[in-house]
Amino acid sequence: MNAIEPTPRRAAEPPLGLILELTHRCPLQCPYCSNPLELARASAELDTASWCAVMEQGAALGALQVHFTGGEPMARKDLPALVRRAAELGLYSNLITSGVLLDPGSIAGLIAAGIDHIQLSFQDIDGAAGDDVAGLSGAHARKLQAAELIKSSGLPLTLNFVIQRRNAERVPRMLALAEELGAGRVEIAHVQYYGWGLRNRAALLPSREQLDFTTEVVEAARARLKGRMVIDYVVPDYYARRPKACMGGWARREMVITPTGKAMPCHAADSLPGFAFASVTEVSLAEIWHADPAFLRFRGTAWMPEPCQSCDRREIDWGGCRCQAFAMTGDPERTDPACALSPDHALMQAVAFERPEIAPAYVYRRIGAAEAAEAPVEAAD
Ligand code: SF4
Ligand code: FES
Repeated sequence: MNAIEPTPRRAAEPPLGLILELTHRCPLQCPYCSNPLELARASAELDTASWCAVMEQGAALGALQVHFTGGEPMARKDLPALVRRAAELGLYSNLITSGVLLDPGSIAGLIAAGIDHIQLSFQDIDGAAGDDVAGLSGAHARKLQAAELIKSSGLPLTLNFVIQRRNAERVPRMLALAEELGAGRVEIAHVQYYGWGLRNRAALLPSREQLDFTTEVVEAARARLKGRMVIDYVVPDYYARRPKACMGGWARREMVITPTGKAMPCHAADSLPGFAFASVTEVSLAEIWHADPAFLRFRGTAWMPEPCQSCDRREIDWGGCRCQAFAMTGDPERTDPACALSPDHALMQAVAFERPEIAPAYVYRRIGAAEAAEAPVEAAD
């Protein structure tokens, strides 16, 4: 790491969490991955000392949590060393993993290092369908083994199921598996349409009826499992009347660090034009958080156009998602088109209205795949 500048003026509450995208390497190829279409190669990743320095600066800044994600963070051989440093710094550590690299030896190493929590992602409850989404034969079976390992280790377990048009009908079985495994928390998370998800939107977007079905199932399960299992539910914005507070608001709660060390307010911010994100190898986390123009640009409410500026939800949703506004309108400053009050709301409705009857094939997450697959082959649901 280069010399670090002194802490500049304090202008915001500290970040709650550091989201460390340790690597873009991953054995899976999910077509809704939040990573950018242009993936970083292993040779460009930050080294162990740099990641430790990021956590040290983050803890000094006031962050409380660190999320190790990717790609597949377990592809990094130094993961136990990073977990250990997080524990020494008093950061609550969460591993977000596909589970396919987890075995008795690696989980023992993580526990010895002081991991606090593991979030295990599933593509489906049906093994063949899950492997198809993951682009890896046998992935689902390995995830089930990983779930058993985590459960028997005594660590708190969160299961994450990613919902899309090909699996929405199976949400009841997903919830049943979470219950059977004794998960303390389950996320039923519809695909979010940025990164690879946006590239594959036509192949993934559920119908209004499918969304309503999953909502009913989740609400019924929440009532039935109250006090036993927490169910988080994330919906796609395409049928919404008001947007979500993306990332809890731009540069309000979380800081994302990419494998190469770029600090960003969200996973997809690199898609925005005209932004130059600072590198943690050149600028301190404190300076980035408090003074980086990219972090200040959409923090708070002063930047908001009408109707947000005079809306009573502006400090609830913080204007929704800047990356979605850009993806839909070409201008990241416009009101999120997910909002029914946005002059661009019809763009969002048109995407839902024009959803194809037959889902196109997935464009799998691979280096170079997004450019190569300009015209994906048609395939049935
Ligand atoms: Fe949120 Fe703006 Fe819509 Fe109000 S007008 S609900 S602040 S996006
Ligand atoms: Fe970037 Fe929502 S994904 S602000």
